[in-house]
Amino acid sequence: MALEPRLREILDEVRGSGGRVVALTGAGISAESGIPTFRGKEGFWVVGSRNHMPQEMATHAMFLMEPGEVWRWYLHRFGVVRHAAPNAGHEALVRLERALGGRFTLVTQNIDGLHRRAGASESRTYSIHGDAAWVRCSNDCGVGLLPLPDLGPRDAGSPLSAGDRARLTCTRCKGWLRPHVLWFDECYDEENYRFESTLRAAAQADLLLVVGTSGATNLPMRVGQLCFSGGSALVDVNPEENPFSELAERSARGFFARGSASARLPEIVEALAG
Ligand code: APR
Ligand code: ZN
Repeated sequence: MALEPRLREILDEVRGSGGRVVALTGAGISAESGIPTFRGKEGFWVVGSRNHMPQEMATHAMFLMEPGEVWRWYLHRFGVVRHAAPNAGHEALVRLERALGGRFTLVTQNIDGLHRRAGASESRTYSIHGDAAWVRCSNDCGVGLLPLPDLGPRDAGSPLSAGDRARLTCTRCKGWLRPHVLWFDECYDEENYRFESTLRAAAQADLLLVVGTSGATNLPMRVGQLCFSGGSALVDVNPEENPFSELAERSARGFFARGSASARLPEIVEALAG
């Protein structure tokens, strides 16, 4: 579909000003790669006879009680991710990064690595909820980030074997390794999740391009509000209304580009960088 005139006007203005662009992505950009979104129907996990939602599974509290179950859940999710491929939305953002260079920052909530696999650079990508490619020590003993051990193909339901358990053990302190992801009962920080860097990028953005997030988490909403109150242009790409689309509609330089990431991003990027 052709860009709406008001959207084109906003994008032309950003292009003309040579300002900085921050893209903020959520699970929606990977939906068309076949990865279930967090708050969609397929997110739950069964432990014993109880269904658990991600908001319960993805917690430090649950990891302390049931580390093996939490790992099984993540290994299942990571398995889905491994078989997924980047889509036209991820690819469009890579073209934007290549065109803008140092004027571009990608802030992603996704741990699926699809931005990287599409070609996004490590240095301009802030993975504010972590990255499935890495693990770290749950005791924070100082081993740093380690690549996710290869446990081979596994069934969704299969329990951890002794070999899996060994590969998920920290060689330094013998504690559990944990996924390098931000849990719901934990706080953002700079070292693991680029908290301050993200706020800095938001404060300097001339355009915030939000894609596929429901605005349920704290830092993304702060980014949205900073850009809104700072007068940045604000474009939200999402098939559904959400807090960012509301901000965009209230903003003097905002636009709600209703639709899917793969349908809308190629043209938006073309207008900004083509
Ligand atoms: N293109 C663009 N957006 C889409 C698409 C699509 N094809 N399909 C769905 N969406 C939108 C939905 O309308 C919804 O607004 O993507 C959003 C997905 O929302 P969530 O499932 O809540 O995902 P997200 O916002 O990334 O969740 C944030 O919460 O669970 C935690 O840490 C987890 O990073 C995650 C965070
Ligand atoms: Zn350790």
